Amino acid sequence: MQSVQLICWTLKSKIQRQKRLVLSGVLVFGVIWFMLSQKTAHIRREVNILTAQPCSDSDSQEVVEKICSLYRNQEVTGDLCRPLCDEQLVKFVRCLNYKHGKYVMQVKCANFCTPGESVSAVLKMTHKNVSELQEHLKHIDKELLVKMQLQEQVDKVKIQEYAITARSLSILLQDLLQAEYGFTPRDGQDMISLLWNNNYADHFQGAHTNLVFARSFWSVVLQNEYRISKVFSDWDVFPQIYGSCGPLYIAENVPGVTPFNTILSYFVPGYQSWKNRAQTAIAILHLVQHMEMMEYPLHLCDVKSPHFGVMPDNNKVKFIDADTVFADGSLRRDLGMPACSQHEDCALFDCEGWCHKETGKCRPVRTNNNLQMVCAKVFRGPLLSRNTGLLSSPPSHVATQLTNLVNSCADDVTEVTQEGIQMKTPDDGLLHGLVSCLTESMSTSR
Ligand SMILES: Nc1ncnc2c1ncn2[C@@H]1O[C@H](COP(=O)(O)OP(=O)(O)O)[C@@H](O)[C@H]1O
Ligand SMILES: [Mg+2]
Repeated sequence: MQSVQLICWTLKSKIQRQKRLVLSGVLVFGVIWFMLSQKTAHIRREVNILTAQPCSDSDSQEVVEKICSLYRNQEVTGDLCRPLCDEQLVKFVRCLNYKHGKYVMQVKCANFCTPGESVSAVLKMTHKNVSELQEHLKHIDKELLVKMQLQEQVDKVKIQEYAITARSLSILLQDLLQAEYGFTPRDGQDMISLLWNNNYADHFQGAHTNLVFARSFWSVVLQNEYRISKVFSDWDVFPQIYGSCGPLYIAENVPGVTPFNTILSYFVPGYQSWKNRAQTAIAILHLVQHMEMMEYPLHLCDVKSPHFGVMPDNNKVKFIDADTVFADGSLRRDLGMPACSQHEDCALFDCEGWCHKETGKCRPVRTNNNLQMVCAKVFRGPLLSRNTGLLSSPPSHVATQLTNLVNSCADDVTEVTQEGIQMKTPDDGLLHGLVSCLTESMSTSR
């Protein structure tokens, strides 16, 4: 009897051991598979960065030449035209964008951007094929005439002679800013000078200008980055805009933060010490906080390190790609537009939306916020990679606390309450916690 029990027991433990062995085998296989898939994604990301198509200097210079030839033919105007095209005060240095984005060129700007000084600056314009520029401007003429309810056929008018009133331009602008930002001008506020410079009167004879000024004005106003930078210029959150020539505008040089999203970052010359990175992170947090306090809070919908620029002289941070920055009203409108079957369908770049699955319609509400995106996409590297992200490898005396704070901030998800889904505004406590932990981290660091 005892020997039968012994055989049973041995058999049982043998089966259990085999079970455990199979289980551990599956587990080990799973872990290896997971690590490999992470690695493949990582390798793919590194390769993408290496093979990303940079812009070509000659393509960029061709754009400037085209703008200048339009200026010489009196088809566009603006305060940048003369220094750029006649006086050679704005000189091309190199292109900065990746193909298919905007045109972005670094230039040296003498005695125009800052009087009496030669400073670095950038020329920017929404990407358009050079051959399509003229057509694009004709399109703008048509839009202006229709919006101003002028009956003339656009092909029949002579743009240099066709008169447009300051009043009709102001009304157009007012409607656009009202729709975009809910912006209401103060009594007697000069709307045209808000989006141009005070010297716009140079382009007017009494209350009239011509279609050359109107199309140049409208071609920059229609670019979100130009418009938002001008309207909110007093807040100092975007690079200053010095001037424009047709649709091409010139902005303050605020170089972007080096991305720390790959292992390759360690070999990039701009890879900075912990102290510098912590300082930049604090400045980014201040920018996010500042944006929350604005009269019309703005949503950053394309958040990544190179979109935060650091001012070379005072280390202040500005947001340098304002094309996907939206005010509350226009974002809600755009988020609320499409039909959906899942929440991802409602997102606008990094601004996440909410799908009401019963009706198949997106709710007009953003479910994440600027702070959360900064923590997830700038401070923290990609999942499971502790060695990437602006705040990777922190000094050991703050490592646990900082990692916990960054994770809570990045994973701070919006919950549905009885009142429905609500936009989650940045958590002030987390923001202050991060600032003080970063400040402490610099007390004894490399
Ligand atoms: N004001 C600026 N000062 C310095 N560099 C800039 C500025 N604006 C853009 N850049 C550089 O050009 C790159 C592309 O500009 P960005 O506005 O992001 O264009 P895109 O719309 O193509 O993404 C940025 O990542 C940054 O490196
Ligand atoms: Mg960009």
